[in-house]
Amino acid sequence: MNAPLIVLGLESSCDDTSAAVLRGREILSNVVMGQAELHAAFGGVVPEIAARAHAEKLDIAVEQALLEAGIGLRDVDAIAVTAGPGLIGGVLSGVMCAKGLAAGAGKPLIGVNHLAGHALTPRLTDDLAYPYLMLLISGGHCQFLIAHGPDSFERLGGTIDDAPGEAFDKTARLLGLPQPGGPSVEAAARDGDAARFRFPRPLLDRPGCDMSFSGLKTALLRERDRIVAEKGGLTTTDRADLCAGFQSAIRDVLTEKTRRALAIYLERKPCEPAFAIAGGVAANTAIRAELETLCRDAGVAFMAPPLALCTDNAAMIAYAGSELFAAGHRSDMALKARPRWPLDPGAAPLVGSGKKGAKA
Ligand code: KG4
Ligand code: ZN
Repeated sequence: MNAPLIVLGLESSCDDTSAAVLRGREILSNVVMGQAELHAAFGGVVPEIAARAHAEKLDIAVEQALLEAGIGLRDVDAIAVTAGPGLIGGVLSGVMCAKGLAAGAGKPLIGVNHLAGHALTPRLTDDLAYPYLMLLISGGHCQFLIAHGPDSFERLGGTIDDAPGEAFDKTARLLGLPQPGGPSVEAAARDGDAARFRFPRPLLDRPGCDMSFSGLKTALLRERDRIVAEKGGLTTTDRADLCAGFQSAIRDVLTEKTRRALAIYLERKPCEPAFAIAGGVAANTAIRAELETLCRDAGVAFMAPPLALCTDNAAMIAYAGSELFAAGHRSDMALKARPRWPLDPGAAPLVGSGKKGAKA
């Protein structure tokens, strides 16, 4: 039997600088250096600041990942790097670093699509069989994908504007709650009355699996301003009710669109039907519970990889790289950093490009 592949992975497409070493499915190290404090004052990721920080931190992250894994660069079988989609300066930093390492150590180089990294994570954690249905929901991504293979994805739909995490973050900002918005809106919603405000459920009246979340925050802004004009400010109860109404609108949209995506997926007659979620928003208990129930009722296995592997990290890139490597993929020194790189080139383009860069 062949020894499991040892792959070094690099990720720098948004605001996390990460390097990881995998031996087969075993994660020997997964170093993630966040940049939240660098961007905190700006209310979003500043691409130039992110790129500079990646350029400064990547080799440190690689050194630490190798050290923690207890191996040297000579021991790796391949170097995998996110080559897009994402904020171009950061992606470039990663690609240049990986090219330098690959050329210096004489190792094969593999350019990985960041979204493929997310989409293949359930295979890293649970060895899920193809084809499975995936929902990526984070601050930068929102799409349904059927994974057929490491380089074969079918996109069933996605957001045409904001990602749901972005909507949570903006809502928190509008209500004076701390960032990241997801956890603080979820906490406030726990004591709220979801029925007090009736927020829109965008695109439910249209067929298909595309979603839209930007109108929700406008509706919330209007309600907030109306209350402030009437009463001079927001009470804790107002905030809780606004958060509960907002969260249930997002939950309803994701649930209905997942129901439709599952129906399309099940038409493909998968042998072991499975649905997996990934991304920061997958941490939301209310959303997760609803999707889990939906899957149980449809007889589909529900998977949610641990959060540390759902959010941006290089272990997922190393894993995707190892599957691509095993399938014969190799990149060379002409590997390009791509701001956009749809996983499914046949699907209609998604127009959204949010605060964290292109969505596909
Ligand atoms: O996957 P992630 O860490 O980063 C990228 O977007 O790439 O996702 C972060 C997003 C943020 O927008 C954050 O507000 C959201 O995930 N999030 C949540 C929760 N925890 C994090 N959204 C809703 N409910 C949560 N509990
Ligand atoms: Zn991501």
